[in-house]
Amino acid sequence: MGEGIAVNALSGGVDSSVVTVLGHRALGDRLKTVFVDSGLMREGEPEWVRDLFAGMGIPVEIVDARAEFLGALKGLTDPEAKRNAVTNTFYSTVFGRLVRQTGAKFLLHGTILTDIEETVAGIKRQHNILAQIGIDPEQMYGYQVLEPLVTLRKDGVREAASILGLPREITGRIPFPGPALAARIVGEVTEERVETVRAATAIVEEELADSRAFQYLAVLLDDKATGIREGRREFGQIIVVRCVQSVDARQATPVRISWDVLDRICEKVTRVPGVNRCLYDLTPKPPGTIEYV
Ligand code: XMP
Repeated sequence: MGEGIAVNALSGGVDSSVVTVLGHRALGDRLKTVFVDSGLMREGEPEWVRDLFAGMGIPVEIVDARAEFLGALKGLTDPEAKRNAVTNTFYSTVFGRLVRQTGAKFLLHGTILTDIEETVAGIKRQHNILAQIGIDPEQMYGYQVLEPLVTLRKDGVREAASILGLPREITGRIPFPGPALAARIVGEVTEERVETVRAATAIVEEELADSRAFQYLAVLLDDKATGIREGRREFGQIIVVRCVQSVDARQATPVRISWDVLDRICEKVTRVPGVNRCLYDLTPKPPGTIEYV
């Protein structure tokens, strides 16, 4: 990097957290760390992440890009088109502006090996893959991308996180996809639908926090079902609960959650406004993937 300035986006996931700590140790205040609030994050997440890193002496600025992301996703239903919209908003709109404002020439990025493999194999276009699919970030966005974790998978990143002394809240955090809750909304992403999946996510994360599963999540389907609420017919929304065991996300098996826990999740999820069905997904990966979009 020479004497240049870099920016990086911290989501609070283990990948970007490791990059943030490594970057600050290497570059000090030549690295500017931001949390991009896409409006697609979980409840209270931007503030939680900012405060946690402030406690480690790393300042994190929250960039409000909610309107830009929701605007870019408006009307889109195709999964790859939605992923593309998130990618473009992130790299071009938000980072393009940040780079112009700060004079940074580099973006430090937490891409890991699994992201590249799945994208190259054509399974899913991970939001953070550029060079591997023929995009030259310097030409397209005006900055270079540095990817220090590119030889590691999730288990390796977790190990690096503990070696760097990151707290358990980070090292033990379940994975969360770059496109955030947009990866868990089948069909159009609207503010109202994000609210629904966000509320269901909070319930599932709380109820399964002790499951020791690799990942657990809630998905909002693009379908409706007839139900009854307060004695009246209701054509309501459907939430799918997914909980899987995995080592590195390349393969996954559903967890045998106790009926009592499932029962409680269902009861709470069907209290989310507009939701009247709650399903548990029994599909391993393959043939399913972990996320739905
Ligand atoms: P899938 O759904 O492909 O997900 O089985 C595998 C793992 O990767 C996470 N995931 C992503 N992570 N950017 C990321 O950084 C993405 O675009 C993305 N899509 C999925 C997913 O949560 C799971 O842990």
